[in-house]
Amino acid sequence: MSHITTPVPGKISAKRNVVVLASIAALGGLLFGYDTGVISGAILFIKKDFGLNAVQQGMVVSSVVFGAMIGAAMVMFYADKVGRRTIIGVAAVIFIAGTLAASLAPNLGFLLVSRFILGIAIGLSSSIVPLYISELAPQESRGGLVGLFQLAITVGIVAAYLVDSALAPHEAWRWMIVFGVIPAVVLGIGVRFLPESPRWLVSGGDIGKARGILHRVRDPEDPSTEIELQEIRKNVEREKSETHGWRKLFSRGTRPALYVGLGLAIFQQITGINTVIYYAPTIFQFAGFKSASVAILATAGVGVINVIFTIVGILLVDRVGRRPLLMVGMCGMIVGLLTLGFAFHLTNMSGALQIIAVASLSLYIASFAVSWGWGFWVMNSELYPQGIRGRTMSLVTMVEWMGNFVVSLTFLLLIQHLGKPGTFWLFAAFGVLAFFFTYKLVPETKDRSLEQIEDYWRARAEGKPAEL
Ligand code: BGC
Repeated sequence: MSHITTPVPGKISAKRNVVVLASIAALGGLLFGYDTGVISGAILFIKKDFGLNAVQQGMVVSSVVFGAMIGAAMVMFYADKVGRRTIIGVAAVIFIAGTLAASLAPNLGFLLVSRFILGIAIGLSSSIVPLYISELAPQESRGGLVGLFQLAITVGIVAAYLVDSALAPHEAWRWMIVFGVIPAVVLGIGVRFLPESPRWLVSGGDIGKARGILHRVRDPEDPSTEIELQEIRKNVEREKSETHGWRKLFSRGTRPALYVGLGLAIFQQITGINTVIYYAPTIFQFAGFKSASVAILATAGVGVINVIFTIVGILLVDRVGRRPLLMVGMCGMIVGLLTLGFAFHLTNMSGALQIIAVASLSLYIASFAVSWGWGFWVMNSELYPQGIRGRTMSLVTMVEWMGNFVVSLTFLLLIQHLGKPGTFWLFAAFGVLAFFFTYKLVPETKDRSLEQIEDYWRARAEGKPAEL
């Protein structure tokens, strides 16, 4: 017999609150997507205005990624000290300043510095936003809520493609960039409404305030809210008697979690996602779509598939779990990469092969979106112990940006040296490693509280039977 339970108003408003707060924070992801995506269209006109050669163009494109690496690393020193909310606020201010500066840049040097500054804001928000949402979210919907960050990234990328193509006839690259200021201002205003992470407050001993915030994002009547608070307290107390700080990061208890995070970061990047995100028009032109407008249209198609399948992924993550999606998604990515390689292998693409190329690229991007897109951000926000969650996440996020930097910088070189099939097959081979890595080492964190995940690593380190 099915039960029809009367909805509890406290529960409903708590759920709504947490979704609204997570969505505000996720604007950091929208800016991440917009500011990394917008340059693909803008660069064509910046090149003309400033008379840039290929190396200088590469510098304009990658200065943001370089800045993001530094921004992500900066969180290492501050997140556990000044709190999560403050860093989101700082990121919003830097987003506004960097966007305005880049859009007004009078010369290449100025543009590079302002894009670098913008990158710092992206790096800060990519380390802190998933962490913040994860610490605020109830365990049963944590995957989907942190996944909103990835959804925002994908929406930002599509918005950038759209703005670029609308403004391209006017060659208005400054306007393309400046549109990013709108979400940055909304984020800046929105931060005022974000409460501090209750878990971080407990770490600092502010139990009363943490309880108040938990009551906004959980049903205050539900006894499990108080139980959650006591669990957090218990873990924080226990951590005090253990090693902490940098030593804890590399301690026997934390290392396995750190390795899993690093593996997810590196595999998310070396399986080639950003060659598609940054070079989709080039790949479509390789496949024989000579007209630039068709290539750009196809690129927008890639962006839309990315958004749609990210939604599918975040609807599934708290039902199906992280591991199955990561493994199935990786299989789809491998098949996409292999067939794309074959399509290029049979040179002189005829009509049928062009269709195969488009289909494989679509399969690849859909499979990424449904799994590894949110997968890295969600799991990176869940795996580490409370006291060093901020710094571990930041270290791993920095490595993810390094992977991004290396792959996007070397893609065209790889094509030159390995050929197109060889390059995509290399990504596929990394995909096979990623599959086995997930199968062997990545734990399932669905329906587990952050404290249970922490207990799991601790038990493993103490040689006790450990299961999640
Ligand atoms: C990755 C980015 C990528 C984006 C594509 C993110 O999860 O970190 O590097 O561009 O997904 O949707």
